[in-house]
Amino acid sequence: MHPVEFIREKRDGGAHAPEAIRAWIGAIVRGQVPDYQVAAWLMAVYFRGMNRAETFALTDAMARSGEMLDLSALGPTVDKHSSGGVGDKTSLVVAPILAAAGAVVAKMSGRGLAHTGGTIDKLESIPGFRTELTKEEFFQQAREVGLVIAAQSADLAPADGRLYALRDVTATVESEPLIASSIMSKKLAAGARAIALDVKVGKGAFLKTREAARSLAELMVEIGERAGRRVAAVLSQMDQPLGRAVGNAIEVQEAIATLRGEGPEDLTALALALAEEGLALVGLDPAGARRALESGAALSKFRDFVAAQGGDPRVVDVPEGFALAPGVAELRAWDDGTVTELDALKVGVAALRLGGGREKKGEPIDHGVGVYLERKVGDRVRKGEVLARIYHREKGLEEALRLLRSAYRIGAAAEPPPLVLEVVRQP
Ligand code: URA
Repeated sequence: MHPVEFIREKRDGGAHAPEAIRAWIGAIVRGQVPDYQVAAWLMAVYFRGMNRAETFALTDAMARSGEMLDLSALGPTVDKHSSGGVGDKTSLVVAPILAAAGAVVAKMSGRGLAHTGGTIDKLESIPGFRTELTKEEFFQQAREVGLVIAAQSADLAPADGRLYALRDVTATVESEPLIASSIMSKKLAAGARAIALDVKVGKGAFLKTREAARSLAELMVEIGERAGRRVAAVLSQMDQPLGRAVGNAIEVQEAIATLRGEGPEDLTALALALAEEGLALVGLDPAGARRALESGAALSKFRDFVAAQGGDPRVVDVPEGFALAPGVAELRAWDDGTVTELDALKVGVAALRLGGGREKKGEPIDHGVGVYLERKVGDRVRKGEVLARIYHREKGLEEALRLLRSAYRIGAAAEPPPLVLEVVRQP
């Protein structure tokens, strides 16, 4: 079909045939469709949506647009993915728990997108840690340690790379079929038998309502089923950041504290919920997640993993040895009361402005900057006490302070919101 015909079909609310979708994705990956036509089509999909059959065909075509990894020889492989949040260092806790409980985690992760952080950026704050691995290194470490996390190779679902870059600059990210196909194409190509998804809901997430998040979760679980994978999705709250640390090195510190059993309650609970789902999906005992955490086996697995990827394993025993930025500014409470709101999006943007994330793809980031939230929703505070600490260098302090000031609301009373909202499983 001619590109103009294909775009018109969607613009007018029609449904694409699977073979037309395959041909379209093939042409995009071969560089035969100019950006303006891909962008016009994305906007048509944004407004008109896609039915189930179209979304399955799109995901499959995107997954097959590059290499499909085969992890079947590694045993019970489990992958984990988050739809993106603020302070979301969950993978750094879930992956070693899963590996210590008998699953194999051979995972490719991404870098930060917009105000949300990425696992690879966080891991690169560990001195010496290598995220660019050869395929041989990746498989060898998976066999020997049971845990490896590498930067997503350019060969993995390259169609998503092209589409995501255009979605990002054409206001077409927030589309259910486009998000589902983007996430699931990468997960299917990455080869794990089971996938535990963390679908974030709220101010700091791409999905703002529980209904929208549930619908996305159901779609992704169904895509997995059609592709012969075991998938479960945990819906979790992202109105306020997860844990207390937002940044890169500072989030790794918090993840390590959590593996020691000294982490914030919300992060611990979410990591356990996801690890339990992941273990159940491959027929392992979900109770093994808590045992791996409480016995220290997960911490020890994390240490082996860091060393295997060239990182300095001493950071695991002396997490405060991480180089945080030397400037420390404080945001202090302007009133007595209880924190009633802490806007995750604003906190995420504050960390971004300090240099902890990228405004444009490929920009260098500052691993040492970040925010530590001394008070979160439900915490009482007195006027003059510290709400948040900001670790900074030259860049962005004033704007970060202004954003954080407007992220907090102090009022009469508030309960911390429930974190795990529901779980969507396959039948
Ligand atoms: N994460 C992704 O990988 N893709 C999206 O479209 C949204 C979040």
